[in-house]
Amino acid sequence: MSVFRDDFLWGGACAANQFEGAWNVDGKGESVPDHCTNGSHTQPKWVTTSIRPDKFYPSHDAIDFYHHYEEDIALFAEMGFKTFRTSINWTRIFPTGMEDTPNEAGLAFYDRVFDCCKKHGIEPLVTISHYELPYTLVEKYNGWESRELVGFFMNYCKAIFERYQDKVKYWLTFNEINAGTMPFGALVSTGTIQGYEGPMTNLPDKPQERYQALHHQFVASAAAVKYAHEHYPQFKMGNMICFITSYPYTCDPDDILACQKQMQMTNWFCSDVQVRGEYPFYAKRYFEEHGIHIKTEPGDAQLLREGKVDFYTFSYYMSNCVTTHKDATQTEGNISSGFKNPYLKASDWGWQIDPKGLRYTLNEIYSRYGIPMMVVENGLGAKDVLEEDGTVHDSYRIDYLRAHIQQMAEAVKDGVDLMGYTPWGCIDLVSASTGEMAKRYGFIYVKKYDDGTGDYSRLRKDSFFWYKKVIETNGETLD
Ligand code: BG6
Repeated sequence: MSVFRDDFLWGGACAANQFEGAWNVDGKGESVPDHCTNGSHTQPKWVTTSIRPDKFYPSHDAIDFYHHYEEDIALFAEMGFKTFRTSINWTRIFPTGMEDTPNEAGLAFYDRVFDCCKKHGIEPLVTISHYELPYTLVEKYNGWESRELVGFFMNYCKAIFERYQDKVKYWLTFNEINAGTMPFGALVSTGTIQGYEGPMTNLPDKPQERYQALHHQFVASAAAVKYAHEHYPQFKMGNMICFITSYPYTCDPDDILACQKQMQMTNWFCSDVQVRGEYPFYAKRYFEEHGIHIKTEPGDAQLLREGKVDFYTFSYYMSNCVTTHKDATQTEGNISSGFKNPYLKASDWGWQIDPKGLRYTLNEIYSRYGIPMMVVENGLGAKDVLEEDGTVHDSYRIDYLRAHIQQMAEAVKDGVDLMGYTPWGCIDLVSASTGEMAKRYGFIYVKKYDDGTGDYSRLRKDSFFWYKKVIETNGETLD
């Protein structure tokens, strides 16, 4: 007997800007990722204020899902997907973010995508904003630092809720909203990068702007949830957190406290606001000690209380350690870095692989909030070898995913309420941190390479057939 619910939502996840391509087709405007160049594990990607002819921008063509969506969704259906997590590219609907009327050609594209999902019995799970801010809003307003964006976001939400009310039931407001608590979040999430051109590693860090921007995102998220609940009672509204599980490196009480502080402000802060509907007690001291002053408006507190999400979702790739000790070694990770855990191995990009950390994390989240949860990103970014006969033997990816699903099963046995699982980049796509194609996550290999070459053909990896069996048996067969 499977431990997972009968209606468990097995599937996969992507983001519009990382796989659609067609960056300036059918009236689409420029978004922040359209201004980001390629990079690598050792070379940081750049953000440029204009589109420069001497640079390569991987999101412009990506894997061209825009023109391959039927083929791709058919492949997802062949694996047995129950759900497909994707995002709507804000600039397809409102090219600058500021128009009064939505762009019909953009709306029509997602009609086609969602209809195709429905045809295959796949339930769409839609992220409203996945690192795809209209670039004009950066130029004019310094992104989410400006309160004006709340209104623009609501126009966008109203347009897509109205249009897709019969096609989409599950919505996530902001992808990894807690990215705004980290320096890299200024580029990918809050868009507080007005006028900046250069490598992302040299971005000046302005926490005051990031936290003010975050407040506006909280208000926007709550307004969207409240509006959805009032007008579309059939909708289920979720949040989305980049969970970076942290362990104290030693049992030195200083490490325990440092780790607790890190967990509070990095992992819990945003979801405490979105799930409990108010700023948590510990934020006050953090803001005081860091000279951060959040400007709020009358009514914000009430709105946050009225816009609580229905379910909690998160990405989980890795864990790291926190320490006050000088002898620990630094390591990389998703959006942020930390210290090495001697008990764990890491991916080629330095992300420490920790399946048991997923069981621990699911238990921690559920004991804090007690609402249904979903793991909406997880997976191994790796260099795949395409054999001459068109096969890809990605046993390392199967091992990674198997170990994580086993731990999800343990968490379900522990009693957590888990709704679904959508591994990241179910089809190869552009990496968010490095802009590479070489960092592949997919069950489906796409012939597209870092120099822009490739014929975009799609091939099933070994993990494709493995995952198909996992879904068929509701997670019972993992060999
Ligand atoms: C998450 C993002 O942080 O991690 C995705 O939501 C991203 O957009 C994913 O692609 C994996 O990160 P990367 O840098 O390997 O693409």
